[in-house]
Amino acid sequence: MLDGMTENASSLLAAMTLEEKASLCSGSDFWHTQPIERLAVASVMVTDGPHGLRKQPEEADHLGLGESVPATCFPPAVGLASSWNPELVHQVGAALGTEARAEKVAVLLGPGINIKRSPLCGRNFEYFSEDPLLTGVLASAYVQGVQGQGVGTSLKHFAANNQETDRLRISAVVDERTLREIYLSAFERVVRQAQPWTVMCSYNKINGVYASEHRWLLTQVLREEWDFAGLVMSDWGAVNDRVAALTAGLDLEMPSSGGVNDARIVDAVRDGSLPEPILDRAVLRVLALLSQAEPAMTSGESFDVTAHQQLARQAARECAVLLKNDGGLLPLDPDATSTVAVIGEFARTPRYQGAGSSQVNPTQLLTAWDEIRRLAGTNRKIGFAPGYGVDTAADGGLGEAVELARTADQVLLFLGLPPSYESEGWDRDSIDLPPEQLELVSAVAAVNSQVAVVLSNGAAVAVSEWQDQVAAVFEGWLLGQAGGGAIADLLFGFNEPSGRLAETIPLRLVDTPSFGNFPGELGEVRYGEGLLVGYRYYDTKQLPVAYPFGHGLGYTTFDYSGLSVTSDGATVTVQVNVSNTGSRAGSEVVQVYLSDPHSTVFHPEYELKAFEKVPIPPGETRTVTLTLSRPELSYYNVRQGRWVLESRDVELRVGGSSRDLRLTARVRIDGDDGPEQLRPDSSLAEWLQHPSGGPLVRAAMSAGASGLLTGDPDVLKMLGNFPLARLAVMPNSGLDPATLAELLAKVS
Ligand code: BGC
Repeated sequence: MLDGMTENASSLLAAMTLEEKASLCSGSDFWHTQPIERLAVASVMVTDGPHGLRKQPEEADHLGLGESVPATCFPPAVGLASSWNPELVHQVGAALGTEARAEKVAVLLGPGINIKRSPLCGRNFEYFSEDPLLTGVLASAYVQGVQGQGVGTSLKHFAANNQETDRLRISAVVDERTLREIYLSAFERVVRQAQPWTVMCSYNKINGVYASEHRWLLTQVLREEWDFAGLVMSDWGAVNDRVAALTAGLDLEMPSSGGVNDARIVDAVRDGSLPEPILDRAVLRVLALLSQAEPAMTSGESFDVTAHQQLARQAARECAVLLKNDGGLLPLDPDATSTVAVIGEFARTPRYQGAGSSQVNPTQLLTAWDEIRRLAGTNRKIGFAPGYGVDTAADGGLGEAVELARTADQVLLFLGLPPSYESEGWDRDSIDLPPEQLELVSAVAAVNSQVAVVLSNGAAVAVSEWQDQVAAVFEGWLLGQAGGGAIADLLFGFNEPSGRLAETIPLRLVDTPSFGNFPGELGEVRYGEGLLVGYRYYDTKQLPVAYPFGHGLGYTTFDYSGLSVTSDGATVTVQVNVSNTGSRAGSEVVQVYLSDPHSTVFHPEYELKAFEKVPIPPGETRTVTLTLSRPELSYYNVRQGRWVLESRDVELRVGGSSRDLRLTARVRIDGDDGPEQLRPDSSLAEWLQHPSGGPLVRAAMSAGASGLLTGDPDVLKMLGNFPLARLAVMPNSGLDPATLAELLAKVS
């Protein structure tokens, strides 16, 4: 029986027939769990997620995209991540929870926290970052925000679902250290810190085993190591073998299999191939979810549409990243009399969210074109030209756009990826903007030197070909339904830009870490870059990039001083002063990276270990204190099968991006590593370095009259690689199997 099982659950379980138990482990349709009316077991609704509610009417199929109830479309994860602001993400989560409650949705299917392994992944807009710490901290805040409203979340897609190509079958071939430190790390943080009510397994295989049937993943790691107490559900259609999945730890299959898989469960219990307690365990987890959701499902509340629209706008302001701003082109003075040309169809027809299961039917939609006119003041002349058509190569009126640009004092040029370029379900094969937009930017820049580009795209696009031709670039990502308003607020300086890149913008696709290993072939994708994902790769290989991870400008500047780093055993405290040296308010995202040159295992050049977003008024200084504890300072030792905190000196670098590290300090870590356990196949060198094994093996070899230790050092160096068990059967080694057995007994 499960810990914490209620009396009610236990008596319900006892009253259920085998068929009723099996029925609880799958959906009744696309979005509901199955009820058992005879026993008054309710059915609850689970629905997408993540950045808004996509609740469909009863009859809709799950890809009927236009048909969901109106809900606030907050910035998708690509935007939220660029805020680097967990408090903001918590607020958005709470608003999402309120909307779910109002619509009687028990579980919101998100957040999606897969790591951005390649900018080509069609679903990157729904994921946070290339970095697991940033992803994990923000996703924990999201889960706490939603669940604080009495509504559950589904942490997805567990795990190694980093592409859309062949996503239902592909096997991610990934080594365990990389899996633990990069691809599972954010899941671990969120499970430990925020206990999501549910976790959704991914479609793909991991090292040859479907996630839905992966006992190691779903039970050993998730429950036994991380103490996950909730329910595991399948992604929609991820179940391959229902009985194998149940045995591995997959409790709820979604959507309904029309009873086919329920019957298989019943048959397997009857023929003895599935022990009934395994089924009972899943049933109890479903019952626990139903009782967790019950209070919110009966509360009958509504939500404040206007307040959520305002929050969506506030959030979007923090998500846009100002990449460059030559000559201080931005902000535009709202009271000036100059003429502004707004060019680009996306100003009028915004690209504000991604396509697929997360597509929300917004309560309202603000366009940049309307909002710019509203904020510009009456003194300005503003003109518009589309320049290109959304999602079509048809003539968008390049000539008209160039003429408008020629006569304007400043140009606001809206570019980005059309919806057909990126979506759930497929990956991109290029990181370029559409050709007609590349032609437009060059033509406009040729007639006007005061061009600010605003980008709308769900994953990194190449900017290097054209960005030198323009004065300013805002990376607007996808900003949700109020994004048009937020961009206008930032362009006119009513608010300060404070977004930072949560993913590197590479120069070229060929520079990206997984190039050549993405999206795989013949059913497998090899994670050949290992730990070197995102900036870990670019910084370790010292490759130039267009804009580094963590980068983002505001309308002011910051100075760093007075770095102090102290270590108290296994916790490191970093303190630094940050001053706003400009004349406007602003927020700096203080980032702490670890360099680990003295570790015995390989580490990327820099790894983000802590961060904090700090608002600072002009001319003022704030002291920022950040802590790094055991999880941030350990690595996963595959031989010992555990996280090891190594004793060593480390370097901590503090600054405003992975390539803007202003201050460095060194500190000693007191670890828990201790000497490795010696085994028969430990090498001679490992024995000699071992504090207790070393003296023992020296004494035994001298007693056995071996000249090896005192002879030619090069011979010793060569034989140092030999496992002791092999040396023990070689002539003149001074060892024999019986002596080795005695040595092993002494060191164990
Ligand atoms: C997606 C999930 C989503 C589910 C339900 C699947 O295709 O991968 O993220 O929650 O559909 O719409």
